[in-house]
Amino acid sequence: MPRDRSMALVCAALIAGVLVAPARAGDAAAGAVAYARDCARCHRDEAALRTTVAAAADPAAALDAFLARHRAPDPVRRADIVAYLAAPR
Ligand code: HEC
Repeated sequence: MPRDRSMALVCAALIAGVLVAPARAGDAAAGAVAYARDCARCHRDEAALRTTVAAAADPAAALDAFLARHRAPDPVRRADIVAYLAAPR
């Protein structure tokens, strides 16, 4: 039946869309809040931390890999913190 077939195509397209969706881009504003709550007590000199982060060849990727092992295991929160700290300003 044509109708069933088009529904199947719509479903396939939706599933493919979910599977190939890129990783959620971080939200820098949420990252600022997360940084204040989870990082600032140890990293009080945020400017110095930013300088260290910016020195990497690919700051966002390097920071993401580091934070996966350092106090930001949750990928969504980590993406927010990376957006906050590694975005060019
Ligand atoms: C309990 C204290 C503590 C907390 C909380 C903490 N850090 Fe750290 N962080 C450290 C220490 C100590 C080092 C240096 C040693 C190391 O590499 O683990 C460090 C190193 C780093 C580095 C590597 C650059 C550097 O200055 O050595 C980055 C980037 C970083 N932290 C980011 C973060 C972020 C982002 C958060 C919040 C998610 C966070 N840290 C939370 C203590 C902390």
